[in-house]
Amino acid sequence: MTQQMNTHNFDVTYHIRPPYGLLNDPNGLIYFAGRYHVFFQWNQKGTTHKNKSWGHAVSEDLTSWRYLPPALEPTDWFDKDGCYSGSAVEADGRMYLFYTGNVRGENGERESYQCLAVSEDGEHFEKRGPLFEQPAGYTAHIRDPKVWKEADTWWMLLGAQTETLEGTAILYRSDNLLDWTYAGELMDRTAPFGYMWECPDLLRLDGRDIFVFSPQGLEPEGDFYQNIFQTGYLSGTFTEKGTFQPDADGFKELDRGFEFYAPQSFVDDQGRTILFGWMGAMEPEVEQAVPTIHDGWVHHLSLPREITWENERLIQRPAEELKQLRGEAASLTEALAQSGKASLPSLQTELTLEWQEAEDFEYTLRGEVTILFNKEKQRVTVERTNWLTKERETRSVVLNETLKDMRLYLEASSLELFVNGGKEVFSLRYFTETEASELTWKSSAQPVRVTAYPLNTTTSLRF
Ligand code: FRU
Repeated sequence: MTQQMNTHNFDVTYHIRPPYGLLNDPNGLIYFAGRYHVFFQWNQKGTTHKNKSWGHAVSEDLTSWRYLPPALEPTDWFDKDGCYSGSAVEADGRMYLFYTGNVRGENGERESYQCLAVSEDGEHFEKRGPLFEQPAGYTAHIRDPKVWKEADTWWMLLGAQTETLEGTAILYRSDNLLDWTYAGELMDRTAPFGYMWECPDLLRLDGRDIFVFSPQGLEPEGDFYQNIFQTGYLSGTFTEKGTFQPDADGFKELDRGFEFYAPQSFVDDQGRTILFGWMGAMEPEVEQAVPTIHDGWVHHLSLPREITWENERLIQRPAEELKQLRGEAASLTEALAQSGKASLPSLQTELTLEWQEAEDFEYTLRGEVTILFNKEKQRVTVERTNWLTKERETRSVVLNETLKDMRLYLEASSLELFVNGGKEVFSLRYFTETEASELTWKSSAQPVRVTAYPLNTTTSLRF
């Protein structure tokens, strides 16, 4: 059978993406020796979930990236079936990478090793191998070490699965990054919440501790938990004993779109907390139908988002530096008001829409992605065509306030939508065969202002 060639432009140019192969989680995020380092799960040999290495991109401004050779490859007995996700810290001027070595036995049985690699220059990495034995009471699903320092203690947080097949997070502690002691579970286990927690992360925003994790196995509930796997957070208090006491208001999803998973955060040299996610986890058959597979690659990371804690909620805004990508501003306000449609300056466009108070509307991008607002219910909905089933599908969120603005980052096959200054975010892929780059709308009232910026990037995919 001849493979159908993809004649449409689905390229992604200003997000971090693999030159070829499959990308998943962001790993080892760190600002080190004057540069931002973003590592990512990368299968260089195909567009399936095998042979994971750590791809590596660096930037001085979070905007323009240079790709370096992979930092870690699955070449040792303790990581032979994948250098799985993990994190980075700086100590004594060196970069320490913590990751999970994935090993499969002859009959497919899983082993997981929490491993260390060290770098003097941030470009060459020396593997030091596994740090400790697997603790009792858990299956071999223990992975994704996130390491940070609190006073004189280094903590390592890991996603885990109990022998009763419940998701949980466990902690280790260390004085020197080399010798680690098991320190128990992060939280008291009450009701089960999924069968596995991946990519745990603990961060502090404005004096509040935030535990971010990606639980697998939650059932859909109304507008919630609609994707194959979820990502969200609990706010609360992390004590010096290594326990987390969550606030009463429960788990909140970080992103309300279709594709956003396994995020990781880090604090940069300016003290900002920045988060990247993977766009993103999909049902396996939907993933294998992603049209970019015909071009030899699949998936990309989200944009860097600065996250803050404001009025008891987590806010996500595109990093300020992304404004450097902007070309000349074009106002679409008049064109939309007069004819109900306007041309976008490019397939790579940033679009902002502002209202005093939005009325019901329906905006369609490139004849494919529709954004709807129902004022009475304060409900924002994003609708796209599933590229496998060809059916329209939606994700929605109810705002607890009026809608005042939306900021969209569009690529030829991807969209990130920030609602009301980043109080809600929708991330998604979309695939349309239309060449047109047009915005159409129906609404009873016009937005005050619609502005579009073409986005230019200097990132090259070559090493
Ligand atoms: C999350 C995840 C991690 C694992 C990695 C393997 O997407 O499953 O738990 O370390 O991907 O690529």
